[in-house]
Amino acid sequence: MKVDGQPYRTIWLSADGRSVSVIDQTLLPHVFKVVAWRTLEDVVAGIRNMVVRGAPLIGASAGYGIALAMSADPSDKAFEYAYQALFASRPTAANLRWALDRMRSVLLPLAPSERTSVAFATARNIADEDVANCSAIGEHGKALIQQAWDSVQRSRPVNILTHCNAGWLATVDWGTALAPIYKAFDTGIPVHVWVDETRPRNQGASLTAWELGHHGVPHTVIVDNAGGHIMQNGKVDLCIVGSDRTTAGGDVCNKIGTYLKALAAHDNQVPFYVALPVSTIDWTIEDGVKSIPIETRAPEEVTVISGLTSDGKVESVQLTPQGSAALNYAFDVTPRRFVTGLVTEFGVFPPLPEEMTKLREEAEKQR
Ligand code: MRU
Repeated sequence: MKVDGQPYRTIWLSADGRSVSVIDQTLLPHVFKVVAWRTLEDVVAGIRNMVVRGAPLIGASAGYGIALAMSADPSDKAFEYAYQALFASRPTAANLRWALDRMRSVLLPLAPSERTSVAFATARNIADEDVANCSAIGEHGKALIQQAWDSVQRSRPVNILTHCNAGWLATVDWGTALAPIYKAFDTGIPVHVWVDETRPRNQGASLTAWELGHHGVPHTVIVDNAGGHIMQNGKVDLCIVGSDRTTAGGDVCNKIGTYLKALAAHDNQVPFYVALPVSTIDWTIEDGVKSIPIETRAPEEVTVISGLTSDGKVESVQLTPQGSAALNYAFDVTPRRFVTGLVTEFGVFPPLPEEMTKLREEAEKQR
């Protein structure tokens, strides 16, 4: 996607061929800065501190993390060390393990002397495939937006609610939940996006709003608690969110607050779609509520907030009384019964057992 007219991906091999460039997402929307990763440690810290975030981008970053580790030491021992360090950097995104396992299956059969160049090529493939998958998700999801437009006799823009940031910043390009919106907008379907601010880190207010604004997509930022009210008042035609991990049974783990939006959508008969590449599906588990450990992050993400001051500086301020405890769950699980469909690179699949089997078969055909 473009930033001030220049096309960007979120991650790429730098011109020196030895470092990896990423957009520092902790500084957006106020500062756009590209930073370089030179070592495995840079990548681990970048994922942990959310310089990059979003399940597909975490997976692509892990691929490059292994490549940087192999360029320093291509031994089996160094590979295993890098695998474990990256795996521990964020616990939820299924794409992290998926990418690490792929790097392992490609690299370990090779002689150490061959590993570095193949590691960089495989990391590049993971990134390129993510772009193609997100583009396909966009096409399948665009058809849903088109249907919503037709069902209002093309009389007004389609209102879509999204949570957190599942746009191009969360992937390598296009996004998951936002890809259908970009594709619809680019083909002339009028859309308007309700952007949940998404406390505590405000990925909606800072990242989704920034992306949509740069692409010219009409949008309105709302506080997280407003979604139920606007759905009840007929102001949302469909919800589209992303996922960090979806189970074989179709339960969806996503940014904290997603579950509440799904409940409100269910009560108001608003279709609730989840857009994700198949690499986000954890085929080893069925029941997300029982089986997905939920990441808890630093309480300071709740108690402290940062923003732009009137004299143009980014500053942090304390929100809560000194001494009040805060608990910071980063994700929640939306049970499959509240999900209308999973929008994947292979099409739209309701999260029913026979449909999940079909989706798995489609994915396996492609391997
Ligand atoms: O904690 P984050 O910012 O890495 O979490 C990302 C999300 O939860 C997004 O909502 C997204 O849907 C998953 S990645 C496309």
